[in-house]
Amino acid sequence: MSKNIAIIGAQWGDEGKGKVIDIYAKNSDVVVRYQGGNNAGHTVVIDKESFILHLIPSGILHKGKICIIGNGVVVDPKALLEEISMLEAKGIKVDGRLFVSLDAHVIFPYHRKLDELREARKKNIGTTKKGIGPCYADKVARLGIRFVDLLNDEIFRQILQSNLDEKNAILSRIYNVEGFSFDMLYREYKDYAIKLKKYIADTKVMLNEAIKAKKRVLFEGAQGTLLDVDHGTYPYVTSSNSTAGGASTGTGVGPTKIDKVIGVVKAYTTRVGEGPFPTEFQEELMNKIREKGKEFGATTGRPRRCGWFDGIVVKHAVMVNGIDEIVVTKLDVLDCLDSIKICTAYKYEGKIYKDFPSDIMVLSNCEPVYEELPGWRSDTTGITSYLGLPKNAKNYLKRIQKVLGAKIALISVGCDRKQTFSRD
Ligand code: IMP
Repeated sequence: MSKNIAIIGAQWGDEGKGKVIDIYAKNSDVVVRYQGGNNAGHTVVIDKESFILHLIPSGILHKGKICIIGNGVVVDPKALLEEISMLEAKGIKVDGRLFVSLDAHVIFPYHRKLDELREARKKNIGTTKKGIGPCYADKVARLGIRFVDLLNDEIFRQILQSNLDEKNAILSRIYNVEGFSFDMLYREYKDYAIKLKKYIADTKVMLNEAIKAKKRVLFEGAQGTLLDVDHGTYPYVTSSNSTAGGASTGTGVGPTKIDKVIGVVKAYTTRVGEGPFPTEFQEELMNKIREKGKEFGATTGRPRRCGWFDGIVVKHAVMVNGIDEIVVTKLDVLDCLDSIKICTAYKYEGKIYKDFPSDIMVLSNCEPVYEELPGWRSDTTGITSYLGLPKNAKNYLKRIQKVLGAKIALISVGCDRKQTFSRD
Protein backbone atom coordinates (compact mmCIF):
# COMPACT_ATOMS: atom_id res chain seq x y z
CA MET A 1 0.00 0.00 0.00
CA SER A 2 1.25 3.47 -0.86
CA LYS A 3 2.23 5.46 2.16
CA ASN A 4 2.83 9.01 1.09
CA ILE A 5 0.30 10.24 -1.45
CA ALA A 6 -0.01 13.54 -3.31
CA ILE A 7 -3.50 14.57 -4.40
CA ILE A 8 -3.59 17.16 -7.15
CA GLY A 9 -6.15 18.83 -9.37
CA ALA A 10 -5.87 17.73 -12.99
CA GLN A 11 -7.92 20.56 -14.55
CA TRP A 12 -8.37 24.24 -13.64
CA GLY A 13 -9.04 23.71 -9.93
CA ASP A 14 -12.37 23.05 -8.18
CA GLU A 15 -12.24 19.37 -9.17
CA GLY A 16 -13.59 18.30 -5.78
CA LYS A 17 -10.19 17.79 -4.13
CA GLY A 18 -11.57 18.74 -0.70
CA LYS A 19 -13.82 15.70 -0.62
CA VAL A 20 -11.17 13.36 -2.05
CA ILE A 21 -8.52 14.58 0.39
CA ASP A 22 -10.98 14.09 3.22
CA ILE A 23 -11.47 10.45 2.14
CA TYR A 24 -7.73 9.73 1.91
CA ALA A 25 -7.01 11.66 5.12
CA LYS A 26 -8.74 8.90 7.05
CA ASN A 27 -5.80 6.57 6.32
CA SER A 28 -3.08 9.20 6.76
CA ASP A 29 -1.30 10.48 9.84
CA VAL A 30 -0.26 13.89 8.55
CA VAL A 31 -1.87 16.13 5.91
CA VAL A 32 0.19 18.95 4.40
CA ARG A 33 -0.69 21.85 2.08
CA TYR A 34 2.26 22.75 -0.15
CA GLN A 35 1.33 25.77 -2.30
CA GLY A 36 -1.21 28.51 -2.92
CA GLY A 37 -2.90 30.33 -0.09
CA ASN A 38 -6.41 31.38 0.81
CA ASN A 39 -7.24 31.65 -2.89
CA ALA A 40 -8.16 27.96 -2.52
CA GLY A 41 -11.54 26.79 -1.28
CA HIS A 42 -11.84 23.13 -0.34
CA THR A 43 -15.38 22.07 0.46
CA VAL A 44 -16.06 19.02 2.62
CA VAL A 45 -19.61 17.92 3.52
CA ILE A 46 -20.01 15.76 6.63
CA ASP A 47 -23.50 14.69 7.68
CA LYS A 48 -25.02 17.53 5.65
CA GLU A 49 -22.77 20.12 7.34
CA SER A 50 -20.57 21.95 4.86
CA PHE A 51 -17.02 23.11 5.74
CA ILE A 52 -15.07 25.38 3.41
CA LEU A 53 -11.34 25.46 4.13
CA HIS A 54 -9.07 27.97 2.46
CA LEU A 55 -5.72 27.48 4.19
CA ILE A 56 -5.90 24.71 6.74
CA PRO A 57 -5.58 21.19 5.27
CA SER A 58 -8.89 19.35 5.00
CA GLY A 59 -7.41 16.63 7.27
CA ILE A 60 -8.28 18.86 10.26
CA LEU A 61 -11.83 17.47 10.05
CA HIS A 62 -10.50 14.04 11.07
CA LYS A 63 -9.84 13.79 14.81
CA GLY A 64 -6.20 13.49 15.78
CA LYS A 65 -4.61 14.05 12.36
CA ILE A 66 -1.65 16.40 12.23
CA CYS A 67 -2.09 19.21 9.69
CA ILE A 68 0.74 21.24 8.23
CA ILE A 69 0.87 24.41 6.17
CA GLY A 70 4.13 23.93 4.29
CA ASN A 71 6.84 26.40 3.30
CA GLY A 72 5.44 26.69 -0.24
CA VAL A 73 2.16 28.20 0.95
CA VAL A 74 1.66 31.98 1.20
CA VAL A 75 -0.24 32.74 4.38
CA ASP A 76 -2.54 35.62 5.18
CA PRO A 77 -2.40 35.53 9.02
CA LYS A 78 -5.74 37.28 9.39
CA ALA A 79 -7.43 34.67 7.19
CA LEU A 80 -5.65 31.88 9.07
CA LEU A 81 -6.81 33.14 12.48
CA GLU A 82 -10.38 33.46 11.16
CA GLU A 83 -10.28 29.90 9.90
CA ILE A 84 -8.94 28.62 13.23
CA SER A 85 -11.79 30.43 15.05
CA MET A 86 -14.38 29.05 12.62
CA LEU A 87 -13.18 25.48 13.27
CA GLU A 88 -13.00 25.96 17.04
CA ALA A 89 -16.53 27.38 17.05
CA LYS A 90 -17.67 24.13 15.42
CA GLY A 91 -15.95 22.11 18.15
CA ILE A 92 -12.88 21.09 16.12
CA LYS A 93 -9.64 21.10 18.12
CA VAL A 94 -6.84 22.88 16.29
CA ASP A 95 -4.16 23.44 18.96
CA GLY A 96 -1.48 20.78 18.94
CA ARG A 97 -2.67 19.55 15.53
CA LEU A 98 -1.91 22.50 13.24
CA PHE A 99 1.62 23.62 12.36
CA VAL A 100 2.75 26.38 10.01
CA SER A 101 6.19 26.40 8.42
CA LEU A 102 8.71 28.94 9.67
CA ASP A 103 9.67 29.38 6.02
CA ALA A 104 6.16 30.14 4.70
CA HIS A 105 5.82 33.66 3.29
CA VAL A 106 3.35 36.09 4.82
CA ILE A 107 0.74 38.07 2.87
CA PHE A 108 0.48 41.76 3.78
CA PRO A 109 -2.29 44.28 2.94
CA TYR A 110 -0.04 45.83 0.27
CA HIS A 111 -0.04 42.47 -1.56
CA ARG A 112 -3.84 42.43 -1.59
CA LYS A 113 -3.93 46.08 -2.68
CA LEU A 114 -1.46 45.53 -5.52
CA ASP A 115 -3.36 42.42 -6.66
CA GLU A 116 -6.57 44.47 -6.82
CA LEU A 117 -4.96 47.47 -8.55
CA ARG A 118 -3.11 45.36 -11.14
CA GLU A 119 -6.32 43.52 -11.97
CA ALA A 120 -8.11 46.82 -12.51
CA ARG A 121 -5.31 48.36 -14.57
CA LYS A 122 -4.07 45.83 -17.10
CA LYS A 123 -5.01 42.62 -18.86
CA ASN A 124 -7.36 40.93 -16.47
CA ILE A 125 -6.37 37.50 -15.12
CA GLY A 126 -9.45 37.32 -12.92
CA THR A 127 -7.48 36.65 -9.72
CA THR A 128 -9.10 36.07 -6.35
CA LYS A 129 -7.53 39.40 -5.18
CA LYS A 130 -6.16 37.73 -2.06
CA GLY A 131 -2.63 39.03 -2.70
CA ILE A 132 -1.28 35.65 -3.79
CA GLY A 133 0.61 36.76 -6.94
CA PRO A 134 2.28 39.84 -5.36
CA CYS A 135 3.35 37.79 -2.31
CA TYR A 136 4.95 35.07 -4.49
CA ALA A 137 6.56 37.83 -6.60
CA ASP A 138 8.21 39.24 -3.45
CA LYS A 139 9.36 35.75 -2.46
CA VAL A 140 11.10 35.21 -5.80
CA ALA A 141 12.47 38.77 -5.79
CA ARG A 142 13.93 37.99 -2.34
CA LEU A 143 11.94 40.75 -0.67
CA GLY A 144 9.43 38.56 1.14
CA ILE A 145 8.75 38.28 4.86
CA ARG A 146 8.56 34.74 6.27
CA PHE A 147 7.10 33.67 9.62
CA VAL A 148 10.63 33.22 10.93
CA ASP A 149 11.28 36.89 10.09
CA LEU A 150 8.05 37.97 11.74
CA LEU A 151 9.22 36.36 14.97
CA ASN A 152 12.52 38.28 14.95
CA ASP A 153 11.73 41.87 15.85
CA GLU A 154 14.89 43.46 14.46
CA ILE A 155 14.69 41.66 11.13
CA PHE A 156 10.95 42.21 10.83
CA ARG A 157 11.26 45.98 11.37
CA GLN A 158 14.04 46.19 8.81
CA ILE A 159 12.37 44.20 6.01
CA LEU A 160 8.95 45.74 6.59
CA GLN A 161 10.45 49.23 6.34
CA SER A 162 12.32 48.51 3.12
CA ASN A 163 9.23 46.85 1.63
CA LEU A 164 7.07 49.80 2.53
CA ASP A 165 9.56 52.28 1.06
CA GLU A 166 9.21 50.51 -2.25
CA LYS A 167 5.52 49.52 -2.13
CA ASN A 168 4.33 52.95 -0.99
CA ALA A 169 6.26 54.57 -3.85
CA ILE A 170 4.60 52.22 -6.34
CA LEU A 171 1.17 52.78 -4.83
CA SER A 172 1.41 56.56 -4.88
CA ARG A 173 3.38 57.13 -8.11
CA ILE A 174 1.93 54.44 -10.37
CA TYR A 175 -1.53 53.88 -8.95
CA ASN A 176 -2.15 57.23 -7.36
CA VAL A 177 -3.39 55.75 -4.09
CA GLU A 178 -2.26 56.19 -0.51
CA GLY A 179 0.38 53.85 0.91
CA PHE A 180 0.46 51.99 4.24
CA SER A 181 1.71 53.21 7.60
CA PHE A 182 4.68 51.34 9.08
CA ASP A 183 3.39 51.67 12.64
CA MET A 184 -0.03 50.29 11.86
CA LEU A 185 1.25 47.31 9.89
CA TYR A 186 3.98 46.63 12.42
CA ARG A 187 1.49 46.54 15.31
CA GLU A 188 -1.09 44.49 13.38
CA TYR A 189 1.47 41.85 12.32
CA LYS A 190 3.22 41.69 15.71
CA ASP A 191 -0.18 40.87 17.15
CA TYR A 192 -0.66 38.08 14.58
CA ALA A 193 2.81 36.78 15.41
CA ILE A 194 1.90 36.55 19.10
CA LYS A 195 -1.37 34.74 18.34
CA LEU A 196 0.17 32.35 15.79
CA LYS A 197 3.49 31.64 17.58
CA LYS A 198 2.27 28.36 19.02
CA TYR A 199 1.55 27.02 15.52
CA ILE A 200 4.83 28.04 13.88
CA ALA A 201 7.36 25.22 13.54
CA ASP A 202 10.15 23.76 11.44
CA THR A 203 7.70 21.65 9.48
CA LYS A 204 10.23 20.18 7.02
CA VAL A 205 11.94 18.47 9.97
CA MET A 206 8.59 17.34 11.40
CA LEU A 207 7.55 15.86 8.05
CA ASN A 208 10.81 14.05 7.41
CA GLU A 209 10.81 12.67 10.94
CA ALA A 210 7.24 11.49 10.51
CA ILE A 211 8.21 9.71 7.29
CA LYS A 212 11.21 8.12 8.98
CA ALA A 213 8.87 6.87 11.71
CA LYS A 214 6.73 5.23 8.97
CA LYS A 215 3.84 7.65 9.36
CA ARG A 216 1.70 8.25 6.27
CA VAL A 217 1.77 11.75 4.79
CA LEU A 218 -0.87 13.14 2.46
CA PHE A 219 0.17 16.07 0.27
CA GLU A 220 -2.85 18.28 -0.42
CA GLY A 221 -2.66 20.19 -3.70
CA ALA A 222 -4.64 23.38 -4.23
CA GLN A 223 -5.87 24.84 -7.54
CA GLY A 224 -5.16 22.61 -10.55
CA THR A 225 -2.55 21.65 -13.13
CA LEU A 226 -3.80 24.13 -15.74
CA LEU A 227 -3.36 26.94 -13.19
CA ASP A 228 0.27 25.93 -12.50
CA VAL A 229 2.68 28.78 -13.21
CA ASP A 230 4.91 26.50 -15.34
CA HIS A 231 2.47 23.98 -16.83
CA GLY A 232 -0.80 25.89 -17.02
CA THR A 233 -2.40 28.31 -19.46
CA TYR A 234 0.19 31.02 -18.77
CA PRO A 235 -0.34 33.93 -18.06
CA TYR A 236 -3.87 32.91 -16.97
CA VAL A 237 -2.55 30.91 -14.03
CA THR A 238 -1.92 31.23 -10.33
CA SER A 239 1.60 32.04 -9.10
CA SER A 240 2.66 28.68 -7.67
CA ASN A 241 3.42 25.11 -8.72
CA SER A 242 0.14 23.33 -8.13
CA THR A 243 1.51 20.24 -9.90
CA ALA A 244 2.98 17.26 -8.03
CA GLY A 245 6.52 18.68 -8.18
CA GLY A 246 5.37 21.48 -5.87
CA ALA A 247 4.65 18.87 -3.20
CA SER A 248 8.37 18.39 -2.77
CA THR A 249 9.63 21.98 -2.99
CA GLY A 250 6.67 23.26 -0.97
CA THR A 251 7.28 20.96 2.00
CA GLY A 252 10.98 20.08 2.09
CA VAL A 253 10.24 16.38 1.51
CA GLY A 254 12.36 14.88 -1.26
CA PRO A 255 10.53 13.56 -4.37
CA THR A 256 11.73 10.00 -3.72
CA LYS A 257 9.57 9.97 -0.58
CA ILE A 258 6.29 10.52 -2.44
CA ASP A 259 4.93 7.08 -3.31
CA LYS A 260 1.85 7.88 -5.36
CA VAL A 261 0.20 10.76 -7.24
CA ILE A 262 -3.58 10.86 -7.50
CA GLY A 263 -5.22 13.24 -9.98
CA VAL A 264 -8.73 14.51 -9.32
CA VAL A 265 -10.93 15.35 -12.32
CA LYS A 266 -14.49 16.44 -12.71
CA ALA A 267 -16.58 14.40 -15.15
CA TYR A 268 -16.75 17.65 -17.15
CA THR A 269 -14.59 20.80 -16.99
CA THR A 270 -14.83 24.13 -15.15
CA ARG A 271 -12.65 27.19 -14.76
CA VAL A 272 -12.97 30.45 -12.79
CA GLY A 273 -11.45 33.68 -14.01
CA GLU A 274 -10.18 34.60 -17.44
CA GLY A 275 -8.15 32.59 -19.95
CA PRO A 276 -8.58 30.05 -22.75
CA PHE A 277 -11.06 27.22 -22.31
CA PRO A 278 -11.43 25.27 -25.59
CA THR A 279 -14.40 23.06 -24.58
CA GLU A 280 -16.48 25.81 -22.93
CA PHE A 281 -20.26 25.39 -23.29
CA GLN A 282 -22.63 27.76 -25.02
CA GLU A 283 -25.01 29.68 -22.77
CA GLU A 284 -27.92 27.24 -22.44
CA LEU A 285 -25.84 24.19 -21.49
CA MET A 286 -23.57 26.40 -19.37
CA ASN A 287 -26.52 27.53 -17.23
CA LYS A 288 -27.93 24.03 -16.95
CA ILE A 289 -24.67 22.43 -15.76
CA ARG A 290 -23.70 25.40 -13.57
CA GLU A 291 -26.99 25.11 -11.75
CA LYS A 292 -26.94 21.32 -11.45
CA GLY A 293 -23.28 21.22 -10.36
CA LYS A 294 -23.59 24.33 -8.10
CA GLU A 295 -20.65 25.76 -9.97
CA PHE A 296 -19.96 28.91 -7.98
CA GLY A 297 -16.52 29.66 -6.50
CA ALA A 298 -16.00 28.52 -2.88
CA THR A 299 -13.68 31.50 -2.27
CA THR A 300 -15.12 34.35 -4.32
CA GLY A 301 -18.66 33.12 -5.11
CA ARG A 302 -18.01 33.84 -8.82
CA PRO A 303 -19.95 31.70 -11.31
CA ARG A 304 -17.64 29.07 -12.81
CA ARG A 305 -17.35 28.62 -16.56
CA CYS A 306 -18.34 25.07 -17.56
CA GLY A 307 -17.52 22.83 -20.53
CA TRP A 308 -17.12 19.28 -21.85
CA PHE A 309 -14.43 16.92 -20.53
CA ASP A 310 -11.17 17.87 -22.21
CA GLY A 311 -8.98 14.81 -22.78
CA ILE A 312 -6.08 16.95 -24.04
CA VAL A 313 -6.00 18.95 -20.81
CA VAL A 314 -6.18 15.91 -18.51
CA LYS A 315 -3.69 13.87 -20.59
CA HIS A 316 -1.27 16.78 -20.14
CA ALA A 317 -1.96 16.68 -16.38
CA VAL A 318 -1.36 12.91 -16.26
CA MET A 319 2.02 13.51 -17.89
CA VAL A 320 3.36 16.53 -15.98
CA ASN A 321 2.26 15.18 -12.60
CA GLY A 322 3.13 11.53 -13.20
CA ILE A 323 -0.43 10.64 -12.15
CA ASP A 324 -0.83 7.01 -11.07
CA GLU A 325 -4.58 7.02 -10.53
CA ILE A 326 -7.56 9.20 -11.31
CA VAL A 327 -10.57 10.08 -9.17
CA VAL A 328 -13.62 11.21 -11.17
CA THR A 329 -15.98 13.54 -9.30
CA LYS A 330 -19.45 14.92 -10.00
CA LEU A 331 -20.45 12.20 -12.44
CA ASP A 332 -24.06 12.72 -11.27
CA VAL A 333 -24.10 16.25 -12.72
CA LEU A 334 -24.19 14.66 -16.19
CA ASP A 335 -27.27 12.54 -15.30
CA CYS A 336 -29.51 15.05 -17.08
CA LEU A 337 -27.89 14.89 -20.54
CA ASP A 338 -29.02 12.98 -23.66
CA SER A 339 -25.51 12.82 -25.05
CA ILE A 340 -22.06 13.71 -23.75
CA LYS A 341 -18.93 14.87 -25.55
CA ILE A 342 -15.26 14.18 -24.84
CA CYS A 343 -12.60 16.33 -26.51
CA THR A 344 -9.79 14.20 -27.94
CA ALA A 345 -7.88 16.74 -30.07
CA TYR A 346 -7.72 20.43 -31.03
CA LYS A 347 -7.80 21.73 -34.60
CA TYR A 348 -6.12 25.04 -35.44
CA GLU A 349 -5.28 26.44 -38.88
CA GLY A 350 -5.61 22.99 -40.45
CA LYS A 351 -3.31 21.34 -37.90
CA ILE A 352 -4.45 18.69 -35.40
CA TYR A 353 -3.04 18.94 -31.86
CA LYS A 354 -3.06 15.79 -29.75
CA ASP A 355 -0.76 17.26 -27.09
CA PHE A 356 -1.55 20.31 -25.00
CA PRO A 357 -0.27 23.40 -26.87
CA SER A 358 1.65 26.10 -24.95
CA ASP A 359 0.74 28.78 -27.49
CA ILE A 360 -2.07 30.90 -26.06
CA MET A 361 -3.21 31.76 -29.63
CA VAL A 362 -3.77 28.09 -30.42
CA LEU A 363 -5.53 27.47 -27.12
CA SER A 364 -7.76 30.50 -27.48
CA ASN A 365 -8.78 29.91 -31.09
CA CYS A 366 -8.66 26.16 -31.65
CA GLU A 367 -11.70 24.07 -32.47
CA PRO A 368 -12.13 21.04 -30.19
CA VAL A 369 -12.51 17.66 -31.89
CA TYR A 370 -15.17 15.68 -30.03
CA GLU A 371 -16.34 12.12 -29.63
CA GLU A 372 -20.02 11.94 -28.71
CA LEU A 373 -21.35 9.26 -26.38
CA PRO A 374 -24.96 8.56 -25.36
CA GLY A 375 -26.01 9.83 -21.91
CA TRP A 376 -27.68 7.65 -19.26
CA ARG A 377 -30.56 9.88 -18.25
CA SER A 378 -31.03 8.44 -14.76
CA ASP A 379 -30.20 9.46 -11.21
CA THR A 380 -26.81 8.12 -10.07
CA THR A 381 -26.65 9.90 -6.69
CA GLY A 382 -27.82 6.86 -4.72
CA ILE A 383 -25.53 4.38 -6.48
CA THR A 384 -22.93 2.78 -4.23
CA SER A 385 -20.84 0.63 -6.59
CA TYR A 386 -19.33 0.79 -10.06
CA LEU A 387 -21.38 -2.23 -11.12
CA GLY A 388 -24.56 -0.41 -10.12
CA LEU A 389 -23.94 2.44 -12.60
CA PRO A 390 -26.01 2.65 -15.81
CA LYS A 391 -24.29 1.02 -18.79
CA ASN A 392 -23.73 4.34 -20.59
CA ALA A 393 -22.12 5.89 -17.49
CA LYS A 394 -19.70 2.96 -17.32
CA ASN A 395 -18.97 3.38 -21.04
CA TYR A 396 -18.27 7.08 -20.50
CA LEU A 397 -15.80 6.31 -17.70
CA LYS A 398 -14.13 3.56 -19.73
CA ARG A 399 -13.69 5.95 -22.63
CA ILE A 400 -12.14 8.61 -20.37
CA GLN A 401 -9.76 6.01 -18.95
CA LYS A 402 -8.72 4.96 -22.47
CA VAL A 403 -8.20 8.56 -23.65
CA LEU A 404 -6.06 9.37 -20.60
CA GLY A 405 -4.16 6.12 -20.40
CA ALA A 406 -4.55 6.26 -16.61
CA LYS A 407 -6.54 4.08 -14.26
CA ILE A 408 -9.69 5.41 -12.58
CA ALA A 409 -9.58 4.46 -8.89
CA LEU A 410 -12.62 6.19 -7.40
CA ILE A 411 -15.88 7.71 -8.62
CA SER A 412 -17.94 10.31 -6.79
CA VAL A 413 -21.67 10.92 -7.37
CA GLY A 414 -22.50 13.56 -4.74
CA CYS A 415 -21.01 15.85 -2.08
CA ASP A 416 -21.29 13.49 0.87
CA ARG A 417 -18.38 11.31 1.99
CA LYS A 418 -20.64 8.29 1.46
CA GLN A 419 -21.39 9.03 -2.20
CA THR A 420 -18.08 7.59 -3.38
CA PHE A 421 -17.13 4.11 -4.61
CA SER A 422 -14.17 2.38 -6.18
CA ARG A 423 -13.84 1.49 -9.87
CA ASP A 424 -13.06 -2.18 -9.08
P1 IMP B 1 -4.86 34.01 -7.95
O1 IMP B 1 -4.44 32.65 -7.52
O2 IMP B 1 -5.79 34.68 -6.96
O3 IMP B 1 -3.69 34.87 -8.33
O4 IMP B 1 -5.73 33.85 -9.30
C1 IMP B 1 -5.16 33.41 -10.51
C2 IMP B 1 -6.13 32.51 -11.28
O5 IMP B 1 -6.29 31.29 -10.59
C3 IMP B 1 -7.54 33.08 -11.44
O6 IMP B 1 -8.07 32.68 -12.68
C4 IMP B 1 -8.31 32.44 -10.30
O7 IMP B 1 -9.70 32.36 -10.57
C5 IMP B 1 -7.67 31.06 -10.31
N1 IMP B 1 -7.74 30.38 -9.02
C6 IMP B 1 -7.02 30.62 -7.92
N2 IMP B 1 -7.34 29.78 -6.93
C7 IMP B 1 -8.28 28.96 -7.42
C8 IMP B 1 -8.99 27.82 -6.89
O8 IMP B 1 -8.78 27.39 -5.76
N3 IMP B 1 -9.87 27.23 -7.74
C9 IMP B 1 -10.07 27.66 -9.02
N4 IMP B 1 -9.44 28.70 -9.55
C10 IMP B 1 -8.54 29.33 -8.77
